Amino acid sequence: MSFWLWELGGLSYFCDMANNEDQFKKVVSHAREYGYIFASSEIYDGLSAVYDYAQNGVELKKNIREYWWRSMVYMHQNIVGIDSSILMHPTTWKASGHVDAFNDPLIDNKDSKKRYRADVLIEDYAEKIYQKAQKEIAKAKKRFGDSFDEQEFITTNPRVVRYLEEQRSILERMGRSLEKEDLADVKALIEELEIADPDTGSKNWTDVRQFNLMFGTKLGASAESAMDLYLRPETAQGIFVNFLNIQKSGRMKVPFGIAQTGKAFRNEIVARQFIFRMREFEQMEMQFFVRPGEELKWYEYWKETRLKWHLSLGMGEENYRFHDHEKMAHYANAATDIEFDYPFGFKELEGIHSRTDFDLKAHEKFSGKKLQFFDHELNESYVPYVVETSIGLDRMFLAVMSNSLQDETLEDGSVRTVLKLPAILAPVKAAVLPLVKKDSLPEIAHKIIDDLKWDYNVVYDEKDAVGRRYRRQDAAGTPFCITVDHQTIEDNTVTIRYRDTMEQERISIEEISEKMKETISYKNWLSK
Ligand code: GAP
Repeated sequence: MSFWLWELGGLSYFCDMANNEDQFKKVVSHAREYGYIFASSEIYDGLSAVYDYAQNGVELKKNIREYWWRSMVYMHQNIVGIDSSILMHPTTWKASGHVDAFNDPLIDNKDSKKRYRADVLIEDYAEKIYQKAQKEIAKAKKRFGDSFDEQEFITTNPRVVRYLEEQRSILERMGRSLEKEDLADVKALIEELEIADPDTGSKNWTDVRQFNLMFGTKLGASAESAMDLYLRPETAQGIFVNFLNIQKSGRMKVPFGIAQTGKAFRNEIVARQFIFRMREFEQMEMQFFVRPGEELKWYEYWKETRLKWHLSLGMGEENYRFHDHEKMAHYANAATDIEFDYPFGFKELEGIHSRTDFDLKAHEKFSGKKLQFFDHELNESYVPYVVETSIGLDRMFLAVMSNSLQDETLEDGSVRTVLKLPAILAPVKAAVLPLVKKDSLPEIAHKIIDDLKWDYNVVYDEKDAVGRRYRRQDAAGTPFCITVDHQTIEDNTVTIRYRDTMEQERISIEEISEKMKETISYKNWLSK
């Protein structure tokens, strides 16, 4: 694993990289070059782990949100959406446990004055050992070819066995110590493993302390009367506190769900890996309220349904895996992550949690209000159990960008950079290009835009030779280019060029919209 630093518009981006450094670097600079993402307040050298979405980024983000929203709310008759506020009554966070337990263990290096998450330092160390085992396995695979039995090798090769055992025992000890809040042992582990500051190599560490991740703010004009508030660290609590309002006003019957997308804020100690871990980010969450005792059935349903949603985008089945939690939060009775294979390895993209009745019961206790459902079939009232699906919109954005960005070597040996975004998510669906800036071709192109713009985000581009324009649109991720040439004047036809195959077809102007619809229809994508 190496650490590297690069500059993007004045702001230094600090990343730890295990796998595909080059690809990740490319994604970050491509995101900037093509108007997807900039550092926040860049002219003041940026704000660490806070980013702005630019003209293309905001469209891609909106399209991902829409794809999620349709699949959750429109595709399920028993799920409705809400938009609750970011600022909530502070007791919310006492009830949810965030005031007392939403902590990360942090450690400072006395020499470099740098702050780290103690658990991340240890995990990174363990990952290095795991990578050593992986290297041995890869070497053996190469040596033995087809006759290689990977499972046997993993369980019998002394070096691999030793590496994997070492990795497991480090992570187990860390997990035990964190669970018992034995922070002295977490520090002891860092010292025993001789973990050094990744930046400077110093091993001069402070004690490990707990650090609450919520951002505080104040409500009220005067310092004396101001009320301490928090910026919400998850959107889920806005759903729980509205549970009864929605159930009653929507006459919802268990099982039913409430979905919400919106900003969340966490004062992450170590915010790295670009938009993977941010201090201000967006979540897309759905709480599904079920009969007590039926939660594990629904948990399995949502595991399967959410994976299907990911696969519908066609970004490769091999790039997803479940990581079931062995140790659960005290309120959960099942939990899994859907991990995605980012350029820096498999990491959590989405969480699916069976949260029991913990949250609603806690809000009943702290508010003194009943949060129950009367089930006519059972003729009884109960606090429903909850299965939650929670995905980071920015993490999904990064998954889509890093999976789509490709350098393709063409037949003539030249390389084209293409952003093969799933067409349904692409910020701009088509670029309309007059072959030349004269002979009434621009006017025809504008007329085509005037017709398409009601249904699609389309752009006009007349600068440079048409080949260069194609490449520019390929790199921006635009699935279609529509070229107006002199033949258009004669027979009302244009060429439509497909980004992924670069094939071109001659079609009539009237057919354009229908052609695009074949590729860009929610029905086709979401029913996959
Ligand atoms: N309501 C449950 C909840 O918030 P979580 O695992 O803490 O659970 C859910 O967060 C999802 O939110 C994660 O799977 C991830 O995609 C996203 N997320 C969490 N912290 C994030 C951060 N600092 N930056 C970007 N996305 C984040």
